[in-house]
Amino acid sequence: MTRQEVLNSIKANVENKNLVKHMLATEAIMRALARHLGENEDEWGLTGLLHDIDVELTGGDMNTHSKLGADLAREMGASEAMAHAILCHNAAHGIPCETRLDKALFCADPITGLITAAALVRPDKKLAGVEAKSVRKRFKEKSFAAGASREQISSCSELGLELEEFIALSLEAMKGIAEDLGL
Ligand SMILES: [Fe+2]
Repeated sequence: MTRQEVLNSIKANVENKNLVKHMLATEAIMRALARHLGENEDEWGLTGLLHDIDVELTGGDMNTHSKLGADLAREMGASEAMAHAILCHNAAHGIPCETRLDKALFCADPITGLITAAALVRPDKKLAGVEAKSVRKRFKEKSFAAGASREQISSCSELGLELEEFIALSLEAMKGIAEDLGL
């Protein structure tokens, strides 16, 4: 499975541009995590890129979301490890995150929203001026980007990462693709 094949599948199945950006941001963070932890960068990155491929196909139904995604990923040639990470990233199924790949996707998914919101409240709406410490401050404001589960983000500790470290790594990863994110 190549990155281009995944991008083609996204083009075919996802219309919402913000959702595509979310998947790109998740990919960038997953790649950075893989590099940091000495894991397979392409496997982790493509898992992040694919993880919400079924959101529009399932109409946002949390009972089928990520089950269909895991099946689609398998059809495209994803490894069983990748499919499992996609399946368990939707906590509605109650399938525990077991592997490091599972855990990485689980914490990378919600932090994209927190960082995006931290950029959008700036006058220039750009990521460039966002500092890790301001994201940390926003993290503590429960009403800020409330959809970004703090508990889920904090599960980075399962990978041996401190929250500060995870925020900094994720922020740098998203800054690296700021143009693609329109931020
Ligand atoms: Fe997601």
